Amino acid sequence: MPFLEKKCDQCRYIGFASYAFLIYDHLLTFSDEVNYVWKGRKGLIIYLFFLNRYFFPLAFIELPRAAYLSPDFSYSMCSHFVRYEGATVVISFGIAGIMMILRENFRVNALYGGKCRPVQAILGVLWIFQVAIYAQLLSMAQAVPRSHGIHDCSMFFNPKDQNWAPLSAVGPLIFDTAVIVLTIYKTCGTLRGGMSSTLIKTLLNDGIFYYVIVFSANLALTIMIVTASPGLQNILGQFAELMTVTMMSRITLHLRATGAHSRGVVFLPDADRPSPGDTRLLDSHSSNNPTCTAHSPSQGNSGIELGHVSESEGSREGAHENREGRVNSAMYAPQVNFRPNSGIGCDIGNIGDTGDLMTAAGIEEVTNGFFSREEKMPEAGPTILSALSLATSTMALTLGDVAQHDSSKSCWVIIQNKVYDVTEFLPEHPGGANIILKYAGKDATAAYEPIHPPDALEKNLPPEKHLGAIDVGAVQAIKKANVEKKKTQDELRVEKAQKEKPPLSRVLNAIEMEEVAKKVLSYKAWAYYSSAGDGEITYAENIRAFSRIFFHARIMRPISQCDPSTTILGFKSSIPVFVSGAALAKLGHPAGEANITRGCGRMGTIQMVSSHASLSYAQIAEARVREDQPLFFQLYKHKDFRAEERVRDVVRLGYNAIFLTVDAPVAGHRERDIHAPFVLAEQEREAERQAGNGTEVDTPQEPDVDEKGEGTAGAMLNSIDRDLSWEKTIPWLRSVTKLPIVIKGIQCVEDAVLAAEAGVDGILISNHGGRQLDYSLPSIDVLYRLRKQRPDVFSKLEVYMDGGVRRGSDVLKALCLGATAVGMGRPFLYAQSAYGEEGVERLIRILETEIVLGMRLLGARNVSELVPEMVEQVNWQPIIAKL
Ligand SMILES: Cc1cc2nc3c(=O)[nH]c(=O)nc-3n(C[C@H](O)[C@H](O)[C@H](O)COP(=O)(O)O)c2cc1C
Repeated sequence: MPFLEKKCDQCRYIGFASYAFLIYDHLLTFSDEVNYVWKGRKGLIIYLFFLNRYFFPLAFIELPRAAYLSPDFSYSMCSHFVRYEGATVVISFGIAGIMMILRENFRVNALYGGKCRPVQAILGVLWIFQVAIYAQLLSMAQAVPRSHGIHDCSMFFNPKDQNWAPLSAVGPLIFDTAVIVLTIYKTCGTLRGGMSSTLIKTLLNDGIFYYVIVFSANLALTIMIVTASPGLQNILGQFAELMTVTMMSRITLHLRATGAHSRGVVFLPDADRPSPGDTRLLDSHSSNNPTCTAHSPSQGNSGIELGHVSESEGSREGAHENREGRVNSAMYAPQVNFRPNSGIGCDIGNIGDTGDLMTAAGIEEVTNGFFSREEKMPEAGPTILSALSLATSTMALTLGDVAQHDSSKSCWVIIQNKVYDVTEFLPEHPGGANIILKYAGKDATAAYEPIHPPDALEKNLPPEKHLGAIDVGAVQAIKKANVEKKKTQDELRVEKAQKEKPPLSRVLNAIEMEEVAKKVLSYKAWAYYSSAGDGEITYAENIRAFSRIFFHARIMRPISQCDPSTTILGFKSSIPVFVSGAALAKLGHPAGEANITRGCGRMGTIQMVSSHASLSYAQIAEARVREDQPLFFQLYKHKDFRAEERVRDVVRLGYNAIFLTVDAPVAGHRERDIHAPFVLAEQEREAERQAGNGTEVDTPQEPDVDEKGEGTAGAMLNSIDRDLSWEKTIPWLRSVTKLPIVIKGIQCVEDAVLAAEAGVDGILISNHGGRQLDYSLPSIDVLYRLRKQRPDVFSKLEVYMDGGVRRGSDVLKALCLGATAVGMGRPFLYAQSAYGEEGVERLIRILETEIVLGMRLLGARNVSELVPEMVEQVNWQPIIAKL
């Protein structure tokens, strides 16, 4: 058959050219494969990916080729060889098909709870059909040995089988067309619905790209099979197969790279992990605010926490700082704002019901999870729909799946219906692994949610640890468990207090606000907010020191017009008070720091946002009531790049000044906070003892003990820069930002002078509300000394103070001593905990009223008329001093 032999040579040339193309493409994409596929956990899908990418190319090289390079290559060898060659095509196709079917099942299970059987059935039938056709053609094809040049042979269709032959190419045509239609239907639907995810767009674009090329190759193959003369019919067979493999590799790697990039993958150093002792109490806000009970009904699980409440600010705040740092950039992550429509004509009724899964976040997670979950990544599948299917398949995790990973060897947790593999994070957790292991294989939302910014995990865990969402059944089971969960004693107490709290209008001052907050806050939240260092002497004296300062009021001055407003670092403030940055506002109220942002915005005052806020910096910026509402940022300087990153983030977000905290290079020891879990555990044990008398309580859990024995403070040792210095730190900060810089935590006159020499824009005299060094002088006393000893400093920079300010009269005393404004920490935490943003507004109104009243009685029409001569410090304590 010399004529066939010649044509088969032509087939071979096309085959080699296609093969060269594939190898070239593999080389081009090899580094992506290493980066996005190799460096991850392996699973079935990954192995299939490798098979798909390498099986056919390796098979093409054909070990047997060595045999037929031999001069005695015989016809019988050739007939075996063509069977081998045909079998590789069938296997190659079969692998891709299995992946497709697998993924399809994953997706259907995830999205529709396995109800989308028609799609599974159709794809399954198509797969069987094609494999059968290939196998049949293989058995019917004949070998054509070559007699010249290379001792090779080729397969050709027997003329009597002509009718069957086109099916080998028509099958993939139908299959791919069905798939692209389904892909366009699904992705366009989501994009129309407002979804702007890069990943979804990539799925659509790549799908079309893939389809156009693979469809063209298969169409050309079909035309050749139908119209070409014998021997040339299959000339494009290898070309079509190799193009399919190449394109599958391409789109898979591209999707994976897109997924990784869109998530802003950052592998954090150890120090960026949450600090130890980060008490993540859930119970606080559910109990404080009945409206959120449904949201986190399991809050208050006795002992639910991810760390100790006992950490000092520095440490606990440190934990947040770490998270926050990541959170900033979350705003740049692709946002998905849609509810997926029904896909591929299947019943999605249930999805709507599940809400949680099908929210924007859910879908974003699905697509992201697709790229991040290595076992389920879109390995070289035959179509983009498979990729989408696989993406959604990450939703399919059941409670059973998660429950299997309940040990330190493999530890998964569910947080807000998404599953995270935290195994490798366990040893890094500053509070120790035990606190996380308590939730291994379970839902940890209640413990995690109130004290972490929403996207902290996304920013702190590598993407491959984001395993995707749980399925519908799991969501419902968790909801049910939360609803049915018995309340703790503390929750019951808080619920009652919420009902009984006085209307806001009856709260007349900051002290009364604190009293309400004490009742409605969970015990742990209260312990955290109110506690201070060691014996809490400085905390108490911060407040009491104001009662050692008396006024020299001036009379006979016209004060009908009285303006308490001022400017702080050039920003207008309705009263000379700002909010000092304090961590974890969400502990007290689910809206957290946003309450303060909105309240301040409406009242024209300025909020300093803690590095360890429980909302992301972006969320807080978004909560501003107007675009030009000023926000200050409190910064902890870490040893590494994070502080710089954080500053750049807040600058981008429009924050207006940096307050660098310098009084917490190590964490103070807040004993009431440390005791809190034990107190609560005892409370629950007591309740359990009484449960025999009919009281319904949760089974008490053992409090979480920091097994590292270093407390929260220990966590900070690794992350906060302990070597701050005037020489290095200030120039560093100046090099990072042009924003005004204020040093927060000045505790003596000498350092105030050094700050002025360092050229910063302001100093905040502060001892961290007494939470750091106990017996640090009360802030107002330091201010008094500074005024007395170095009045020149006040003309070089703005001076503020915080600590113990509770009344308008306190504010006036500080202003008389030369302060531009004063900061208040706890009072704002309490106000927002007790009454949300209205509480914040009310507090500011109260302060304004008190300040204006005091100014009038002092004889000052504006803040510049508040002068040192109006105050005197006495060396005795009033009998009824504050406290
Ligand atoms: C619960 C709580 C958390 C705090 N978190 C921070 C923080 O993250 N960063 C910081 O520099 N200061 C923090 N502080 C200190 C405050 O900024 C402020 O200096 C102090 O609260 C002022 O004292 P006062 O509460 O008596 O007003 C925190 C204080 C409290 C009470």
